[in-house]
Amino acid sequence: MRHIDIHTHILPSLDDGPTAVADALELARQFVRNDTDRIFATPHGFSTVYHADPEVSQAALTRFSKEVRRAGIDLTVRLGMEIHYHPRVVQTILEGRALCLGSADTQRRYALIELPARDWPTELPEVIYELALREIQTIIAHPERNLAALAREQLIDEALAEGAWLQLTAGSLTGQFGSACERLSRRWLDAGKVHVIASDAHDPRVRQAGLARAFARLDEWGLSSAGEQCRRNAETIWRMTT
Ligand SMILES: [Fe+2]
Repeated sequence: MRHIDIHTHILPSLDDGPTAVADALELARQFVRNDTDRIFATPHGFSTVYHADPEVSQAALTRFSKEVRRAGIDLTVRLGMEIHYHPRVVQTILEGRALCLGSADTQRRYALIELPARDWPTELPEVIYELALREIQTIIAHPERNLAALAREQLIDEALAEGAWLQLTAGSLTGQFGSACERLSRRWLDAGKVHVIASDAHDPRVRQAGLARAFARLDEWGLSSAGEQCRRNAETIWRMTT
């Protein structure tokens, strides 16, 4: 089974991903060993700490793709951004300062939006709606790690009702973020609330590449069909952004 990973921090020296090219290449090899041959590089944008400028990211992608080819690694990398939520998120996307997966020239665009770790923006349903009007699909990055969502699941249901997709982190399924996070992930997957599983890989050692273990966990839970749906959604994202 081949996987596509829509959320990774593989490009060197842009954010809290790898600093050294050698580590980024090791991450690339790790993806391939985990049956992943297509990924989006999604450096942090608009966070209080990191902001990957689109032009700088594009140049970094071009450089890194050459390194990947030179090293003989069978991995295709496309550019996106993990857009940290901010009040002008819609505007910055429309202006091209916040990058989506896909562009205005592709069939569809997907905005990978990270919410603050502790709060839940009250205007989120409106943002999802505003983006949908422009045929941009909102994907909420790792909501299972958001403390507000843990306390009030209704927030998630409101976002889903507005049409958002949820992306879980692979490590959440295997206990990397604690048992509460693992239980919640399992429950949401069982309830059909999850659309994509991604590694959110940052480095080859602690926050690693690969989805194989998460999908094995889904099989253990008897939730293989939920996993299959997530895999198909990732395929759709790749196809629609070609
Ligand atoms: Fe991330």
